[in-house]
Amino acid sequence: MQQTYFMIKPEIVAAGDQKIGAILAMVNAAGFRIVDLALRSLDRAPVEEFYTEHRDKPFFADLVAYIVSGPVIAIRLERDDAIRRLRELIGATDPREAAAGTVRFLYGRSLQNNAVHASAVAEDAERELQIVFGG
Ligand code: CMP
Repeated sequence: MQQTYFMIKPEIVAAGDQKIGAILAMVNAAGFRIVDLALRSLDRAPVEEFYTEHRDKPFFADLVAYIVSGPVIAIRLERDDAIRRLRELIGATDPREAAAGTVRFLYGRSLQNNAVHASAVAEDAERELQIVFGG
């Protein structure tokens, strides 16, 4: 069994329950178990730490401002091969490049407002879960 971090981003949470429910249903249908789930307003410092690999990118300030703009839904998920499977389910970072039927294809609006985040590799999953859930 492997755990990964999944985050429903502010614009989806702000849009209300229907999109949240639809995304959680996709995750459930793909065989993931929700181990922990919380509606969270994240502070700037942990978000900067969370996205530290992008610290020098031109979009970093906008990205951090966007993630702290409203509550997110933070989720710890579990299944075999969870990291790879969740990345497959959500699709490419840019919704315009995401495969049909993926979460970002269906719910993403732009490269920044791309609906959801999922850990890319095992060490990111561990770090991200530690930042958001404390372990
Ligand atoms: P996410 O998977 O959460 O990882 C980094 C985030 O930065 C990404 O999704 C987007 O929301 C945001 N972002 C904004 N611009 C870019 C870009 N040019 N390349 C990658 N990510 C970007």
